[in-house]
Amino acid sequence: MGFSYREGRLFAEELDCETLAEEYGTPCYLYSRAAMEAALAEYHDALSGCEHLVCYAVKANSNLAVLDTLARQGAGFDIVSVGELERVLAAGGDPGKVVFSGVVKRREEMHRALELGIRCFNVESEAELEVLQEVAAALGKRAPVSVRVNPDVDAGTHPYISTGLRENKFGVATDVAMKLLRHGKTLPNIDVIGLDCHIGSQLTDMAPLLESLRQLLVMVDTLEAEGIRIHHLDLGGGIGVRYKDEEPPAIADYIAAVRKALGDRKLCLVFEPGRSIVANAGVLLTRVHYTKETDAHSFALVDAAMNDFIRPALYQAWVDIQTTAPSEEPIRTWNIVGPVCETGDFLGKDRDLALAPGTLLAIHGAGAYGFVMSSNYNTRPRAAEVMIDGSSSQLVRERESIGDLLRGEHRLRQ
Ligand code: LLP
Repeated sequence: MGFSYREGRLFAEELDCETLAEEYGTPCYLYSRAAMEAALAEYHDALSGCEHLVCYAVKANSNLAVLDTLARQGAGFDIVSVGELERVLAAGGDPGKVVFSGVVKRREEMHRALELGIRCFNVESEAELEVLQEVAAALGKRAPVSVRVNPDVDAGTHPYISTGLRENKFGVATDVAMKLLRHGKTLPNIDVIGLDCHIGSQLTDMAPLLESLRQLLVMVDTLEAEGIRIHHLDLGGGIGVRYKDEEPPAIADYIAAVRKALGDRKLCLVFEPGRSIVANAGVLLTRVHYTKETDAHSFALVDAAMNDFIRPALYQAWVDIQTTAPSEEPIRTWNIVGPVCETGDFLGKDRDLALAPGTLLAIHGAGAYGFVMSSNYNTRPRAAEVMIDGSSSQLVRERESIGDLLRGEHRLRQ
């Protein structure tokens, strides 16, 4: 399923990647519909028999075809902007299955989300709760609310993607959350329905996730005793994937542990996975244009750059880079670098590969936080995105043109 090598040639489901690169050009993202469906099914299967909602984190890969794929399989969505909400609608998703996270929700964003009747606002501060009350009152609606708890646990991941420590901007401490929930209960246009938590991304150990859950359950029980009934627990996303040799928990094992901790409490379980659904369902294809030897390194100069895929430059993330067909070239050690004018513009360093100008390379694990984090730096048009479904392929985002990049800009009037 997804991407596999057959006699040294890379296949995207049933299609040869060399042929796809010729058809769609490079750089180009390929996604496997079957791989995404299978990853979502792992969550759904592990949750069967328990009230639940899997809200795919749109930020991980927001292409309409990706959202469409997941919506058709019953997914809900975790959004962080009204833009993501409009994407969910455009892709045929159900706003009634949307949870809205993020520390800055603007009034107009709240307004639109209330109008559409989203499932829940994951409130991250006292001030936000007050504004939400006002916006809901003006609309004559009640806003369903969960409070995001910052449990002050170390997720053990890269500091830029750790979110559950006291010093982070996300959520509120447990005591503040209790205050907010009690206060929310007294507000006329607020419906307190849940508690949520998201402590970070690319987690390879489930212990911090279970520690956060333990804290949430203490809160649920205390509130219950006060007559405040919590309907759902949203445990966020964060389950890591294997890029190299990481050993993230299996989704089934993680969910089994969550269900065990829940005991016989009647709570709906909500999850917001992003990476674990799409990362390994995507590759980025890029072609080697030149090679260059220096005293220090052998460089393979490719047509994808940090503007197309920023994870190596931004987080020093290691991603697997492979050729897509057998080659007669000798294996040598390469730094794989792009055309952008920065030394930080690299995709991989010290990779043993048999390549030459013209060789097509695949960057694996590029389905999550890939295209969505791309930019037009150096006036580089953004890559094409292609969805693979068995032996058919569909262009689901056209490659940008230079015209697209200049649209909306103006020379001086005089
Ligand atoms: N829920 C919330 C509130 C989040 O902030 C995130 C991710 C998720 C769910 C999904 O987390 P996941 O299951 O994908 O770990 N650009 C970074 C990752 C940033 C994650 C931001 N929040 C990267 O490329 O590693």
